[in-house]
Order: sequence, then C-alpha cells, then structure tokens
Amino acid sequence: MSLLADLGSGILRRLPPETAHALTLRALTAGLGVPASQPGTDYDGLAVRLPVSGLDLPNPVGLAAGFDKNAEVFDAMLRFGFGFVECGTVTPNPQAGNPRPRLFRLPDDSAVINRMGFNNAGLADFTTRLSRHQPGAGVVGANVGANKDSRDRIADYCEGLMAVWGQADYITLNISSPNTPGLRGLQDRAALEDLLGRCGEAARAMASRSGARPVFLKVAPDIDETAISEIAEVALAAPWLHGLIVSNTTLSRPDSLASRHASETGGLSGAPLMEISTEILAGFAQAVDGRLDLIGAGGIASGDDVRAKLAAGAQAVQLYSALVFRGPRLVRQILSDLSSSPRSGG
Ligand SMILES: Cc1cc2nc3c(=O)[nH]c(=O)nc-3n(C[C@H](O)[C@H](O)[C@H](O)COP(=O)(O)O)c2cc1C
Repeated sequence: MSLLADLGSGILRRLPPETAHALTLRALTAGLGVPASQPGTDYDGLAVRLPVSGLDLPNPVGLAAGFDKNAEVFDAMLRFGFGFVECGTVTPNPQAGNPRPRLFRLPDDSAVINRMGFNNAGLADFTTRLSRHQPGAGVVGANVGANKDSRDRIADYCEGLMAVWGQADYITLNISSPNTPGLRGLQDRAALEDLLGRCGEAARAMASRSGARPVFLKVAPDIDETAISEIAEVALAAPWLHGLIVSNTTLSRPDSLASRHASETGGLSGAPLMEISTEILAGFAQAVDGRLDLIGAGGIASGDDVRAKLAAGAQAVQLYSALVFRGPRLVRQILSDLSSSPRSGG
C-alpha cells in the first residue's frame, strides 16, 4: 500500500489505504521504481529447500497472499528480493468483495485490519496472467478460495487447484479468511476431511497428467490445541498435501491496540499478530514433527522476526502488513540482516 511512498511520494500514506494500494499496483505494473535485479540472484547463502515438498527457494522470505490478488505484479515483487510470491486469493468467479471502506491502517500498532472479502477478478483472468510466468523466473504460488455465494465451496477449491496446477510453482488452499462467512468452518475435522478428500482426487488426477506440485493449506491463528492436533492429523493423512501456512489474520483484538480503527470488523495483521501466530506455529511444529513443511506468517517486520518463526519450526516465512508501513525496501534489509547471521537466535 505504501510502495509509492517509499519511492518518494508521502502523499500515498494520506490516501485511503485501498486507493493507495490500487495506485501502487498500477505503478508496479508500469515498472515504476522496480529494481532491475533478477529474482533470486542475491543472498546466495539463504537458499532453502523445503524438505517435504522439495520446493526450492532462493531465500526463505515470501510475499503473503492478498497483496497481488489478481497475479498482476508477481514479477515486480520478486525483483524487490522476495524468495517467493503468493498470488490470490482467487475464486472461480469474479467477485466484488465487501463494501468499502474495508481496509484500515492502525499506524500506532504497526497493524492492519481488512475485511476485503476475496475481491478478485476470477480464475480465468488470473490464469491468463499467471501463464506469463516463466519457469525458473522466481517462485510464484497461487492461493485459491471459494466464492461467497457458492453452493459447493469444496468444488470451488478443486476447480481452483486444477486451473492453476500447470502454472503455479505451488498451490495454497486458503480456508482461513475471516471475511467470507463460514469459510473457517472448513477447518473443522469433518469438513476438512471432506475438503482434502475431494481436492485429493483432483490433485492426483492433475499430478498424473502434468506432474506433482507442492500444495499447502493455510490456517487461522484463532484455534486451540485440540484444533491444532485435529488439523495436523487430517492434513498428515493426505499424502499429496505437503505443508501448512501458519497463519492468516486474527479476529482477536489484543488489549494493547491503540489506534482509532482497532475495533473495525475484519482480520488483524501486522505486529500484534506476531506472538499469536508464532505460538500457533510452534503448536503445529510439535504436532507434525517434520512430516509437513511449515511456512510462518504473521507480524514479520525484521530479520529477528524471521528468526523467531524459524526457531518456532518454520522453514520459510511470508509477510505483507509490514510493507504498508515500511515499503518494499524492507525485504532487502531483512535479507541482508539474515545473510549476516542466518540462524542466530533460531
Ligand atoms: C489487506 C490484506 C489482504 C489479505 N488478503 C488475503 C487473501 O486474499 N488470502 C490470504 O490467504 N491471505 C490474505 N491476507 C493475509 C496475509 O496473507 C497474511 O497471512 C497475514 O496478513 C499475516 O501476515 P502479516 O502480519 O505479515 O500481514 C491478507 C492480508 C491483508 C493485510
């Protein structure tokens, strides 16, 4: 959202956040301020192979879903240094999302609240753009979801999975957005078994046709120990599923929040999510014991935050909200910090 601010215009930060984000995407699409560097050419010492999926990353710091919902700027974002970029969430049909305003900055808390509601241009548009992704030109993932008005949400996930299979370097099933009513119910044991059963059939069919793909499941931070072990158990029973992304935004509101928009409805992300999501990540690390890849997300804004996620059991991480306040140059700052001492504290 504040990419242009980072490039020299403080005006953006005074615009409504969604307007600023739209302008940022336009600037990036036009190549404005995008570094010429090739993805993955710096920071050689940080390359990582995720052990279960075998996904090779030039560095472990990825861009989380939601920034590039329509797969418009993945190439530009890779050039800022991200080791991987996750596009989406995309739903089969285009949808407008919730009424505006639906995105709020919480500057005093280095946080964001959003209730976007999967606004996106739909799978057909998404796959057209993603088809421009060249193999070897950086790691680009596709995050798929369900339409709000869908009569069979699981069918939406299967459709998304199959549509992006041939184009994405990995696929994420997002069952943890708080802004589509009932979606998080897919994390309940019976619903999750149903989802993974049906998506498993789709995944096996696609794998036999066009080769294996890493597939991850993205979960919410608002779950207890019982839910962690149930989700882990069901996920481990699906051999085609390689890992978990922990986590999406939280519906909780820590008492510490001081910003004017703290009580807006939606998912909270950024600094106040760091501790919450890292604790859930550690719970999953214990439950899966190395049998699934873990990607940590939630509140990362520094090299130390990355180290904390790695120490909690992640092999890679993603961030989004910190870009809103710090701009894309943050990525290289984090990478140079990590390359000076990749695992200390971890
Ligand atoms: C404005 C906004 C939109 C988001 N949209 C999505 C989305 O479409 N799909 C998804 O899986 N996560 C979405 N997220 C969640 C992020 O991918 C990430 O999991 C979360 O924000 C925690 O990371 P952070 O604290 O670094 O932002 C969104 C987050 C924000 C702030």
